[in-house]
Amino acid sequence: MKAAVVTSFTAPLEIQEREVPDPGAGEVLVRLETSGLCHTDIHAAHGDWPVKPGLPFVPGHEGVGIVEKVGAGVSSRSVGDRVAIPWLGYACGECRYCIDGRETLCELQHNSGYSVDGAFAEYAVANAKYVVPVPDGVTPLDAAPLTCAGVTTYKALKVAGIKPTERVAVFGVGGLGHLGVQYARIMGGTVIAVDIEAPKLELARELGAEHLVNAAEVDPVAAIQKLGGADVALVLAASPKVFEQAFSSLSRGGRLICVALPADEQMHISIFETVLKGLSIIGSIVGTRQDLTEVFALHAAGRTRIIAEGRRLEQVNEAIDEVLSGKVLARLVFEY
Ligand SMILES: NC(=O)c1ccc[n+]([C@@H]2O[C@H](COP(=O)([O-])OP(=O)(O)OC[C@H]3O[C@@H](n4cnc5c(N)ncnc54)[C@H](O)[C@@H]3O)[C@@H](O)[C@H]2O)c1
Ligand SMILES: [Zn+2]
Ligand SMILES: [Zn+2]
Repeated sequence: MKAAVVTSFTAPLEIQEREVPDPGAGEVLVRLETSGLCHTDIHAAHGDWPVKPGLPFVPGHEGVGIVEKVGAGVSSRSVGDRVAIPWLGYACGECRYCIDGRETLCELQHNSGYSVDGAFAEYAVANAKYVVPVPDGVTPLDAAPLTCAGVTTYKALKVAGIKPTERVAVFGVGGLGHLGVQYARIMGGTVIAVDIEAPKLELARELGAEHLVNAAEVDPVAAIQKLGGADVALVLAASPKVFEQAFSSLSRGGRLICVALPADEQMHISIFETVLKGLSIIGSIVGTRQDLTEVFALHAAGRTRIIAEGRRLEQVNEAIDEVLSGKVLARLVFEY
């Protein structure tokens, strides 16, 4: 099989020929149909974060495909099922986080495309319990971005506890943001979209954003405060400056929801403002299997739209450059 492999944090990915893996006990072998390129894959390939993946590794955690073989003891999935391989590749199922509905905080978790090989390959093995069925009515091209960009923004806005009529500022209308705008609307929010690329703001308008702020042209803090401030600021752009702008855009009682993961990971915020304005700063990491099931159900019901363009796996390095240039409207998806 073909796989895109990170062999060094400073070199391009290599397309390698590898043996198709055999599913072990409790695992399934998935023949991939699509795999989305998340900005996290770029951080992973560059070794941007304090905890680095072991080299070499295959990125990819928006994998969608068909179960081709099941390993010993697998009864939950069958050959022929369409499933998604998300970031949460495995969790222990027994710790306090796993059993109280916060499996994404499990300390024993494995992460697809980071701590275990992921979906930038024609085949991948995955834990049968942590793949999520893709319902009929969600195409493989749409299912891929939903598997991380969708579940992450859906969950982040769930933890934000949006009340109808609240103003939700979405900072960064990329792969995650184009779905964030839609979930904020579904949850009853009034959306302020912030980006530095005009075409992304136009897309945000089409997807339901009421207010557009081009942070390359105006100060987003002043523009959002002029609207009354944001009750929720969702940060999806990988820059500490954007976190600080989002924080300063909040109105009293506001919630800063931290999702992007910049390599430069320190932000500078005012304790005085946090206390006096009763602000909350909340980190949110992907979503549970149940969150992803809800994301697929919303899409199957026609409530969300995916903006994605197909690419071949051999184009992985060009695709990364395209995302970094800011010219990709929302998501690139490898099609096998
Ligand atoms: N917490 C999680 O669970 C989780 C999950 C997935 C991705 N992420 C992280 O979220 C981030 C976004 O991922 P993505 O795949 O959507 O990336 P992306 O590159 O598709 O989108 C980023 C967007 O931010 C915009 N942007 C850049 N600078 C900006 C600025 N100064 N102000 C406003 N907007 C700006 C870009 O134009 C782009 O539209 C990455 O850091 C990724 O690692 C986190
Ligand atoms: Zn656990
Ligand atoms: Zn992701």
